[in-house]
Amino acid sequence: MIQLYHVYKYYSNYQALIDVSLKVEKGEFIYITGPSGAGKTTLLSIIFCGVKADQGQILVNGKNILKIRDSDIPYHRREIGVVFQDFKLLPKKTVFENIAFAQRVIGVGSKEIKRRVWMTLKMVGLSHKKDILPLRLSGGEQQRVAIARALINEPPIILADEPTGNLDFDISMEIIKLFEGANAKGATVIVATHNREILKRNPHRVVKLNRGRVVE
Ligand SMILES: Nc1ncnc2c1ncn2[C@@H]1O[C@H](COP(=O)(O)OP(=O)(O)OP(=O)(O)O)[C@@H](O)[C@H]1O
Ligand SMILES: [Mg+2]
Repeated sequence: MIQLYHVYKYYSNYQALIDVSLKVEKGEFIYITGPSGAGKTTLLSIIFCGVKADQGQILVNGKNILKIRDSDIPYHRREIGVVFQDFKLLPKKTVFENIAFAQRVIGVGSKEIKRRVWMTLKMVGLSHKKDILPLRLSGGEQQRVAIARALINEPPIILADEPTGNLDFDISMEIIKLFEGANAKGATVIVATHNREILKRNPHRVVKLNRGRVVE
């Protein structure tokens, strides 16, 4: 489903990813871990076509995404639910609208959107905040909105960048369970985290990066 072959990424002279090869099977759940600056976010961004690798090959669903046309990137991204490390919520839209947005783009009817958003909000425990603007939410609540937004389309691929970074332990475990639920329904899930407790309590394959290289 997702294959990287000898991928390199440079930010001017800095080598953020060095010779990274990785194969994630369809329906697999893996963690990417490693210290701050190891390249976790860069790796996820490359899969999402947020940044472009400088060398190597990347296949997602058989598509070579280094050769993808700009006009095809939105279609590629529809296959992916992504939780960004900095959430990237739309500041002028309510919680409800932030989550509904992706559904509107793909043309889901408004009644169905309401039903799905409601269900997803309940799942992340935020039904009571649906009409609030993101800036009025705590960090952990914003994070859960970002997670709801990633899950609502039931995408075949889920990329989550430190999705439990602002959450206390119990909620973190709940969030991981949501990803595991999506995984049980067939989604391929990649979670970047340096939360050791999460890694220990929810065993899945772990890929460890350090200074841009896969070390384990
Ligand atoms: N846009 C950019 N321009 C220049 N350097 C960058 C850029 N983005 C990332 N880097 C550098 O690339 C390296 C890897 O960054 P990345 O964000 O992928 O690390 P990370 O493993 O996600 O770290 P963290 O755990 O802190 O989120 C870092 O040293 C960072 O400074
Ligand atoms: Mg990061």
